[in-house]
Amino acid sequence: MMLFEQIATGGCQSYVVGCGETCAAAVIDPEISQIDRYSALAARDGLHIRFVIDTHTHADHFSATHQLAQQLGVPVVMNRASPAPFVTMRVDDGEMLSVGRLRLQVIHTPGHTRDSICLVAEDRVFTGDTLLIGATGRTDLPSGDAGALYDSLFLRLLRLDPNMKVFPAHDYKGRSHSTIAQELAQNPRLQTRDRTAFVAMMSNLNLTMPTHITEALRTNMSGGKTVAQMLAEAAAIVPFMSLAELAARVRAGDEDFIILDVRERDAYDAGHIPGARLLPRGQLELRASEDLPDPTRRILVYCEFGRISTLATATLRAMGFQRAVALDGGMKAWREGSYPVNGGKEP
Ligand SMILES: [Fe+2]
Repeated sequence: MMLFEQIATGGCQSYVVGCGETCAAAVIDPEISQIDRYSALAARDGLHIRFVIDTHTHADHFSATHQLAQQLGVPVVMNRASPAPFVTMRVDDGEMLSVGRLRLQVIHTPGHTRDSICLVAEDRVFTGDTLLIGATGRTDLPSGDAGALYDSLFLRLLRLDPNMKVFPAHDYKGRSHSTIAQELAQNPRLQTRDRTAFVAMMSNLNLTMPTHITEALRTNMSGGKTVAQMLAEAAAIVPFMSLAELAARVRAGDEDFIILDVRERDAYDAGHIPGARLLPRGQLELRASEDLPDPTRRILVYCEFGRISTLATATLRAMGFQRAVALDGGMKAWREGSYPVNGGKEP
């Protein structure tokens, strides 16, 4: 008995597939914002995740395979052509993953990317971006190849059992799946059966670049962190103070703490929180000992939007300023909240 869960994140689809007999499971195309959900779903169904798999190098969303594999101590599975150094189990056409009694059969389907694979499990195929419902993956991103996509589709994927269910890595219209037969009959891109015409059609799509493509490729190909991850990690280890709380303390003349503005000098001069000192974030580590000689002082850190100050507060805490606290919001929200602002140069 196959256990199956589809997780939609915006237009991205990811999957947890498990073996009901042995309780082993695999996660396919996990997305970073859902990272806790995969483990939670597996736990709810009594499953143990054994593999985390990316069907290809994603350019349009942030893969969670690296982080999830580290958390779970399991392999990251991708095709041998994947450029990602954190892939610990490279698979190729004709191989299988054994997930308990469940078998995931690998079909190498280059085209959308060189490292694209599809995975067949019993009555269904996980097609990644090789075949979407009513579309195919694009071939104009790095390592894309329209001719290879044609071959992967018409010589491999579309020759599977027509009744096989198709579960893609994306659907922007909220559909969960279709079948090979439905795609053969209705998918507009599959009606061009001539290879040269197919390649011409794919190169004339004129698609816009996915948002965050540079960050997605950088992190998915290297295992590096996204900016959102770095902010989340910092926010997890620092306390915050609300604008209203800080305003009340400023009003009451509370001098028990230092208010630290970590923006640049011109921003500070244009307007800052009354009593704030300037220490630009770019100089934070090198000037900290001189400017902040007492590590036991409470230090309230703010910036323009509340993001850089979160990172700066985490840095201060790491340096031993154990009472560093970040403003929940920034100077922009402070101004918009009509709290008092002092102009002029640093004293
Ligand atoms: Fe993709």
